[in-house]
Amino acid sequence: MSTNEPSESGLPQYPQSYWLASAEVPQFEKLTKDITVDVAVVGGGITGITLAFLLAKEGKKVAILEAGLIMNGTTGHTTAKITAQHDLIYDDLIRYVGEEKARLYYLANHEASAFIRRTVEENGISCDLTEEDSIIYSTSTNSIEKIDKEWKAYEKLGIPGKRVESTPLPLEVKAALVMPQQARFHPVAYLKHLVQEIVKAGGQIYENTTAMTVEHGTFANKVKTKEGHYVEARDVASCTHFPFYGAGGFYFARMYPERAYVLAIPREKSDPPGMYLSADNPVRSIRSVSYNGEELLVVGGERHKTGQGDSTFKYYEALEAFVRETFGPREIRYRWSAQDYTTLDKIPFVGRAVKDEQHAYIATGFRKWGMTNSTAAAQLLKDLILGVDNRYEKVYTPSRFHADPSVRVFLETNADVAKHFVGGKLEWETRDPQDLAPDQGAAVRIYGRRAGAYRDPDGKLYIVDTTCKHMGCEVEWNDAERTWDCPCHGSRYNYRGDVMEGPAKQPLKLLNQPG
Ligand code: FES
Repeated sequence: MSTNEPSESGLPQYPQSYWLASAEVPQFEKLTKDITVDVAVVGGGITGITLAFLLAKEGKKVAILEAGLIMNGTTGHTTAKITAQHDLIYDDLIRYVGEEKARLYYLANHEASAFIRRTVEENGISCDLTEEDSIIYSTSTNSIEKIDKEWKAYEKLGIPGKRVESTPLPLEVKAALVMPQQARFHPVAYLKHLVQEIVKAGGQIYENTTAMTVEHGTFANKVKTKEGHYVEARDVASCTHFPFYGAGGFYFARMYPERAYVLAIPREKSDPPGMYLSADNPVRSIRSVSYNGEELLVVGGERHKTGQGDSTFKYYEALEAFVRETFGPREIRYRWSAQDYTTLDKIPFVGRAVKDEQHAYIATGFRKWGMTNSTAAAQLLKDLILGVDNRYEKVYTPSRFHADPSVRVFLETNADVAKHFVGGKLEWETRDPQDLAPDQGAAVRIYGRRAGAYRDPDGKLYIVDTTCKHMGCEVEWNDAERTWDCPCHGSRYNYRGDVMEGPAKQPLKLLNQPG
């Protein structure tokens, strides 16, 4: 049960992921010396942990370096559906990359799903793994055509599915597409087991250890940490949200970050089984959980680009209103949010960070579908590192530049970046930090320049320079999470300025002595 008391609105005062609150996450020391391994894996989310697990099983000496705490990024804040039904995507993929690659994308995710299920069964992992249908539905006539096109794509690609007119949801559905026999699970409970296996096999895991750069050598790479230690390894894999190296791949201009919101409410017997996603806007995602005696419904949605959400509480409130209208009034036990990166053709970047660099790899851009895409990514990186052919390499290769139909999105995204980069500092802020009430934050004006201020519940004021340490855009206040979020490439900082999510590696400058 959450100890997070509800505010007047009925929402818990602070975000808290159910996955992280309900399963104990193992803890690890930070790296305090130089080490040598076969493979350095940077990032302790599902991709990095699965990759290290696979490599350790192959007898490789691995080390995971995590800037914060393992599983605390998007992995710990997902809706955790194990499915190859990634929203409406297959009709788009056929048009963007052709039928062969669209089919391979499906197969990679289908096999990833089978891998997770096999791993759970073979190891007897207790993680609420439950087979369920995945259903995309529409309550508006506007989306019927999109669902029909997706159904045609399923038929063309040989994807098992069913086009139906209704679902067990208490909603007036106009059209729906079922992908049967998918699954749900508790991601932290699952990964906890993989972590134990990595450690058992001699793998090393370091938390609070930020990888800063890679120094490429003839026989080995050296990952340098923020505190100046080196991890020497033949292969380096960046399994972070945003690649920590590979600037030559221009990833900051080829992906955009989005945030989405999640509520967990008590589940009632009348709630239908299945995993649902609406094809309409605003998007709604619904699935159940049954773990350690707790029965919940997880309801998500309300996407927006990072740092461009104004008051972010309104997204939780919109989800709460949806819950009330659809399922009746329910206690909101948990609320949390997640960030995902989307590439311009919707397919993740997995493979060599830069084409000619043989031993430096990345995996990123999973959109909202990180459970299977991350597992497929880990399998692919494992094969590349071991020199084994993998038929999915050409689908995920980061060096692709498809003639992209989303060029409009690309241009709009970059126009936003330019706006925040050039104009942000000049914005005329009139708020005075002294006017902030407890637990309130805002962009303010200090000595004629823009800054960021937050007054904590005890009255302490924290003032930071709002210039993002990645490439200098202006960060924006996120009131629901009490963070400073960068609208350009998604870096996030807590109210003290510490980095919570990259690409930034350095904290925002604190401009006062909090007090
Ligand atoms: Fe790139 Fe802030 S400027 S994340």
